[in-house]
Amino acid sequence: MRLDILTLFPEMFTGPFDHSIIKRARNKGIVDISLLNIRDFSTNKHKTVDDYAYGGGSGMVMMVEPIALAIDHLKAERTYDEVIFLTPDGELFSQGTANYLSTRENLIILCGHYKGIDERIREKYITREISIGDYVLSGGELAAMILCDSIIRIIPGVLNDETSALSDSFQNNLLSPPVYTRPAEFKGMKVPDVLLSGNEKEIQKWREEMAYKRTMEKRPGLQLD
Ligand code: ADE
Repeated sequence: MRLDILTLFPEMFTGPFDHSIIKRARNKGIVDISLLNIRDFSTNKHKTVDDYAYGGGSGMVMMVEPIALAIDHLKAERTYDEVIFLTPDGELFSQGTANYLSTRENLIILCGHYKGIDERIREKYITREISIGDYVLSGGELAAMILCDSIIRIIPGVLNDETSALSDSFQNNLLSPPVYTRPAEFKGMKVPDVLLSGNEKEIQKWREEMAYKRTMEKRPGLQLD
């Protein structure tokens, strides 16, 4: 999979993309992440990327031209499955969308800033608008990192234990059951006997029951799209 991220702050991605699972996926060659600075596509001498909104009002708007040039530049190289824009007014991100996107080949991910981006970019280039939740971030970068992390970790071959991504919370519309590790007793609190029993069938049954119970208690309305 190839992910091309368009941003005004490529440096923000170092750290999250250089550790743990994403680092491993990159090192294995399973995912190729490229960060493009939108400012590099500005055609004026001050490298301006934003301007006042027509009609007035507070806040600057990201200009159409640098973003259009950046996307055209990428599209001249290869075909993209989706051009995603991270925005609080997009569709709410879910495990279902992460599963779908993880099966794609090439994605462009556009991070907005300031008051928004010129609407003509959305009309002409964007195929999918995604929000990571009903709150406003100062830019799309953190949202893009969350999107990328959730997509990359479920690509086959990224996690060592291939089944572990499938048993995550939200897969099957259920939250994950509780987990324990050594010691078997801590400050009088014991690990449930069934987990120490070695009886695979009983353990599986217990996990399913607990996943269901947890979902009913914590997130009774959980839905997958
Ligand atoms: N940019 C700003 N807020 C956002 C959100 N909640 N989701 C995605 N992108 C955003």
